[in-house]
Amino acid sequence: MNITDSLLLSRTGKVLKNRTVLAAMTNKQSHDDGILSEDEKKWLIRRAMGEFAITTTAATNVTEHGRGWVGEMGVWGDHQIPELTNLARELKKTGTVSLAQLFHGGMRAPQSINGIQPISASINTEPGMDGVYTRSLDNTEVIEMIQSFTDAAIRCQKAGFDGVELHGAHSYLICQFLGIVTNRRQDEWGGDLQGRSKFLREIITSIRKATGPEFLIAVRISPIIEKIGIYLQDSLTLANILSKMEIDMIHISCWDVFQEVDGEKDSKSLTRRFREVIPSNIPLISTGAVWNAKDAQYVLEEGADLVGVARVGIAHPDWPMHIGDISYSPQRPPFSEQHLLNVDLSPVFVDYMRGWKDFVIGGK
Ligand SMILES: Cc1cc2nc3c(=O)[nH]c(=O)nc-3n(C[C@H](O)[C@H](O)[C@H](O)COP(=O)(O)O)c2cc1C
Repeated sequence: MNITDSLLLSRTGKVLKNRTVLAAMTNKQSHDDGILSEDEKKWLIRRAMGEFAITTTAATNVTEHGRGWVGEMGVWGDHQIPELTNLARELKKTGTVSLAQLFHGGMRAPQSINGIQPISASINTEPGMDGVYTRSLDNTEVIEMIQSFTDAAIRCQKAGFDGVELHGAHSYLICQFLGIVTNRRQDEWGGDLQGRSKFLREIITSIRKATGPEFLIAVRISPIIEKIGIYLQDSLTLANILSKMEIDMIHISCWDVFQEVDGEKDSKSLTRRFREVIPSNIPLISTGAVWNAKDAQYVLEEGADLVGVARVGIAHPDWPMHIGDISYSPQRPPFSEQHLLNVDLSPVFVDYMRGWKDFVIGGK
């Protein structure tokens, strides 16, 4: 298998033009009311023009009070549909497959931004919440939240997106339901993995029902986050459970696809472990620390169907155009501000990237 090969998505018959995925990236460029800005559209369209087979939006919140950051694009209201439509139309022109990444911050939706006490699966707090504890959603609210995810997916479909990616990774609300530390519920939404994954599974079922068979649903999960009680064995079981549902892709967020697992030097990679439990009809996306063509080839050899990238796609928007050449090894960070402005980041996004270690010259 080669990174330049196309991929047939068997459930829908849609074809991806190659094996590259622009993973979701928050960029803080949108307006306070969640409406996409020209800057946010421009940055994404530029990457789609660079031939990414899938272009994922930043995490976009499904309720007004689920925001994790300022400048975050939203899909919580119909007022956001016109600009979402403009983005989806321009992405389509490039031949990329577009996914909007749906999320709710849960305990990571700060009161200072949203004006209300954050919610979660259980009563939780974490550093950065200024000692604020979340409120645990009651049964009716859980069902309403599933509907908010569904309504958001319907808006994305109306706007012309090919599908959505459910953000079940990185300790946001879906992930908080999955984690044994953050979900201590005694009811049907907690307990064993079946219970803790029910929120995610009900969102999938509800979106599929509301959007019909053609709409793509990808699910992104974190293999391991010990702090909130996400462990590898559960995540593997979860991936297997999800692969039996009407979804189109599973995306593992590894942060480092080369990492040793269980502290064992020659242990199988995360990508290989997930491949072993996900049947071949469900494409696997694996993301984390891929930079050059050899890295990408490694991920495919480990059993992924698609290679996700984030940071290299910021600096090198045409990455997919070059990645077929196995000697391709693009410049590494740190990058100058001018370089980043030249590749269609706004000053706001460049500023945000200064907080990512060693990415911008003179940054953190
Ligand atoms: C600026 C930036 C913003 C990010 N925002 C998101 C996000 O909104 N949703 C998400 O699932 N992951 C997000 N991530 C994580 C990336 O999708 C990716 O998993 C991670 O950066 C590792 O890939 P990389 O080594 O290719 O950068 C973000 C990463 C970066 C660098």
